[in-house]
Amino acid sequence: MTVTKVVVNSWNEWDPLKHVIVGRPDGTMIQAPEPAIIRDFSKDGLPKGLYGPLPDDMLAMATEQMDSFAALLEKRGIRVDRPTPLDFSQCVSTPDWTQKTMFGCMPPRDVLLTVGHEILEATMSYRSRWFEYLCYRPLLQRYFQEDPNFRWEAAPKPRLTNAAYKPDYWDEYRTWTEDQKAQAMRTGDWILTEIEPLFDAADITRAGKDLFVYHSSVTNSAGISWLRRHFPDHRLHPVYFRETNPIHIDATFVLLRPGLASVNRQRVPLEPRMVELFKRNDWELVECAEPALDGYPPLSFCSRWLSMNILMLDPKTICVDAQEAKQMEQFDQLGFEVIPVPFGAVSAFGGGLHCATADVYREGKCDDYFPHQIGGY
Ligand code: NVA
Repeated sequence: MTVTKVVVNSWNEWDPLKHVIVGRPDGTMIQAPEPAIIRDFSKDGLPKGLYGPLPDDMLAMATEQMDSFAALLEKRGIRVDRPTPLDFSQCVSTPDWTQKTMFGCMPPRDVLLTVGHEILEATMSYRSRWFEYLCYRPLLQRYFQEDPNFRWEAAPKPRLTNAAYKPDYWDEYRTWTEDQKAQAMRTGDWILTEIEPLFDAADITRAGKDLFVYHSSVTNSAGISWLRRHFPDHRLHPVYFRETNPIHIDATFVLLRPGLASVNRQRVPLEPRMVELFKRNDWELVECAEPALDGYPPLSFCSRWLSMNILMLDPKTICVDAQEAKQMEQFDQLGFEVIPVPFGAVSAFGGGLHCATADVYREGKCDDYFPHQIGGY
């Protein structure tokens, strides 16, 4: 009998985790300006438009926390792989554009979407992140050799010409009224145009047959359509939340285990059909706890809501940033075994515990957690 080795298998956010990619903070850049984003850390001494590597002392702390997290997972019997960083300070170009720096490879979740036996490289929508998939290629090549059933996929590489972005968007954004913002939140009308499919993998969260996709500032309607056609056996639901400048779903709406999800207490769901779908299928949506921080950590483009950016090791065991006392207490009361993981120093490098990881193998199969669907959604 031939035994084929299954390396890649993960259908949801909570089944027992056996193999995971943990990113690396090495060489992470505050990106050079590009149409999608101009960093402005004036309050931290780095005025708008300046760019460069994050400071060495911050890198040392982030490295220590990420390595300790990887060691913690390994100690629990989980296989951990790490990406191969590039020189992110280099200038990159395609026939259409030149970009003065790349970004980094701390958050594999942004780039890689695992659905069953497939790992899909996302298009990404920042020029500084166009080549980020290369950091994961040594791993993907290895899984391809080891696992005959591994489906290695890449979404169409976007051109990211100026036509992919609304002109003068950020100047206009500053003048928007509350009504204009509310309208954008309901429709996902952010900086991206619809000229080509664009999405980041971290805008998608997985529950077996159902995939929820955040129509955010880095994922457009064409991206959602592409994903729907790409996963014809899944049910794909666009979701919207009360969040200005949304990027990635995992500090906004987090699936914890069958029947339970955590919702950001400020970024409430704006899609009534989504709320109805969860209700009809007896899911409870709990408001997350109050985060430990008041605002954004220094030089970080991620918010205090990384408090809810967690990693499930199985339906009962949850890794939470160790500084988030209230969030840990809430999870404890919800019946989880909480593993506190010091991770605050990693924020500026691209996110929290969920961002820092990408699933390779979780036990389990493609189950239906939403048997009662809503027509047309
Ligand atoms: N853009 C999100 C981070 C998602 C992990 C936030 O800043 O809250």
